[in-house]
Amino acid sequence: MNVPVTEPSAVLQPVSCDSDVVAARQLARTLAVGIGFSRPDQALIATAVSELARNIVKYADEGEIELCSVVSGVKSGIKVTARDRGPGLEDVELAMQDGYSTGNSLGLGLPGTRRIVDDFKIRSEPGSGLVVTVVKWR
Ligand SMILES: Nc1ncnc2c1ncn2[C@@H]1O[C@H](COP(=O)(O)OP(=O)(O)OP(=O)(O)O)[C@@H](O)[C@H]1O
Ligand SMILES: [Mg+2]
Repeated sequence: MNVPVTEPSAVLQPVSCDSDVVAARQLARTLAVGIGFSRPDQALIATAVSELARNIVKYADEGEIELCSVVSGVKSGIKVTARDRGPGLEDVELAMQDGYSTGNSLGLGLPGTRRIVDDFKIRSEPGSGLVVTVVKWR
């Protein structure tokens, strides 16, 4: 069965400030290079990680980005999990709409991220945080 298998090479980047966002972005790019993603895909993956990490800093103060390579049959890819224990989202559908922002920003981070990955899951426990998991296949 083609069930994604997480390899034991997960890396964890704590995220609580802008330099952590940069570090998470760089780690993602390095892992994407190692998995063999094209340069444009490397850039998309770095952007997705950067958006998720920026949201953690902005809306939850702190959290973490977990990165790992995944395989499914002959496919390989990258899995990104962004986790925090901030306020979470009351209305996930609303937050996923282009232009919705409570931070006086563009409101494109989450919907933009969803568009550039193959699999996007968002799990919110209002009052106790947000977990966003995305997978992009090579
Ligand atoms: N980790 C999070 N915890 C709580 N709320 C969040 C989190 N991430 C996003 N949100 C909420 O979802 C909204 C939409 O997020 P999104 O990243 O799409 O836009 P933005 O951060 O407001 O603007 P942009 O990312 O374009 O600069 C945010 O304005 C915020 O209300
Ligand atoms: Mg954002």
